[in-house]
Amino acid sequence: MRKIAVIGTGYVGLVSGTCFAEVGNRVICCDVDENKIDQLRRGQVPIYEPGLEELVAKNTARDHLFFTSDIGEAIEASDIIYIAVGTPMSETGEADMRYVMSAAKKIGEHLNSYKIIVNKSTVPVGTGELVREVVQANKKYPWISFDVVSNPEFLREGSAIADCMAMDRAVIGSDNGKAAKEIADLHAPFNTRIFLTDMESAEMIKYAANAFLATKISFINAIANICERVGANVLQVSEGMGLDSRIGGKFLQAGIGYGGSCFPKDTNALVHIADKVGYNFELLQAVIKTNQRQRYVILDKLYDAVGGLTGKQVAVLGLAFKPNTDDMRYAPALTIIPELLRQGAFVAAFDPIARESAMALLPAGVQYCDSIEQAVKDSDVCIILTEWQEVLTMDLERIRERMKRPVIIDGRNCFDLETMRRSGFEYHSIGRLPVNVAESDSRPVNF
Ligand SMILES: NC(=O)c1ccc[n+]([C@@H]2O[C@H](COP(=O)([O-])OP(=O)(O)OC[C@H]3O[C@@H](n4cnc5c(N)ncnc54)[C@H](O)[C@@H]3O)[C@@H](O)[C@H]2O)c1
Repeated sequence: MRKIAVIGTGYVGLVSGTCFAEVGNRVICCDVDENKIDQLRRGQVPIYEPGLEELVAKNTARDHLFFTSDIGEAIEASDIIYIAVGTPMSETGEADMRYVMSAAKKIGEHLNSYKIIVNKSTVPVGTGELVREVVQANKKYPWISFDVVSNPEFLREGSAIADCMAMDRAVIGSDNGKAAKEIADLHAPFNTRIFLTDMESAEMIKYAANAFLATKISFINAIANICERVGANVLQVSEGMGLDSRIGGKFLQAGIGYGGSCFPKDTNALVHIADKVGYNFELLQAVIKTNQRQRYVILDKLYDAVGGLTGKQVAVLGLAFKPNTDDMRYAPALTIIPELLRQGAFVAAFDPIARESAMALLPAGVQYCDSIEQAVKDSDVCIILTEWQEVLTMDLERIRERMKRPVIIDGRNCFDLETMRRSGFEYHSIGRLPVNVAESDSRPVNF
């Protein structure tokens, strides 16, 4: 049984700490946020992640998983120290390294025996070295040694437990073979492919992977925008493209762009990393710009469908940046809803999980509803921002009956066109021609 401390008990720290406990380690998750730790100690999980609450309860009950806000104590009691604190986007777009550096200082101050320090946070290349320097500079006992390893995280919110328990690969970067082997052995129960490399490459792999996935999304969104103009159907296009094994079908779903805690900040951070070493990463800059513009596509469709928004009743289905999470970081709703309010619309929103986190971030004036049916009541238009299961399976006939005008603007392509044609909605989606609108409005551009 290995003794592990995880510094930072957020989406990543709590999930990976719990999974390490689940496979037989003794894990102490610690955080500077005392409220979060108090909640966890009372058995309440502060974030929504399917399956997490049960796994936390199971592992705390069998004394594999502990929570503390005494970070020093957690470090002293452990042999492997994971850093999983946030690296948010700073005002300039770079990764804010304050939290990583403060965790490294704390580790130095409490280094009471040899330890392996593992960086799980997404960090610019060179951070491993920086962590080494900070720990070294803050060591209380100069004779005690330590090693630093990079082990970036690839889990996806919404399926984080499954991603962690059956990860595609574990990337482990270190210049010390023994420390790297220890972290590789720690991953043995996950039955995954171990990819050993140097620390700089491991740090780069994380950014490169996220930037590539973001590129796929912006690419298909740009294709979707062209599809609408030439009369093609982007769903058919992405399926046809994805059948090519060199391309693959994943991350080719057109919509209103990526959000969440990773892609927006990691793409911006990588542009800055490149800039610092004298490389102008124009390709990634275009990906970011395409993504920012894509959010406004839904607003353009809204104006086309209902005209001016003053006094209009708009139902918004979905607030979280994607289904199965309560994470609102960089969610398209945070751009779109304030704009609707600014233009004088009344907004009635429904999200099955993210309501509380959304309320903290959205301006006053939004009516939060307990059901889809309540949100669409007497609405002039309904816009879909998140493809929750509740949205995918909603009773279209009942929804149509409750709306003032049966118009849906679907930012996530939740429904097939034939269903919508039959259900009598005026239906606008992404990368496909609209359905049930006046002939002249739906024709593609003629060449
Ligand atoms: N969320 C994801 O889907 C995801 C996926 C892969 C990688 N990552 C990366 O993992 C890292 C963590 O992301 P997250 O989403 O879990 O962040 P988060 O904001 O949910 O959690 C970070 C936690 O760290 C705590 N913290 C900050 N400074 C601390 C300190 N000095 N000591 C102890 N605790 C401290 C905060 O209170 C917070 O609870 C980031 O670098 C992120 O880019 C995130």
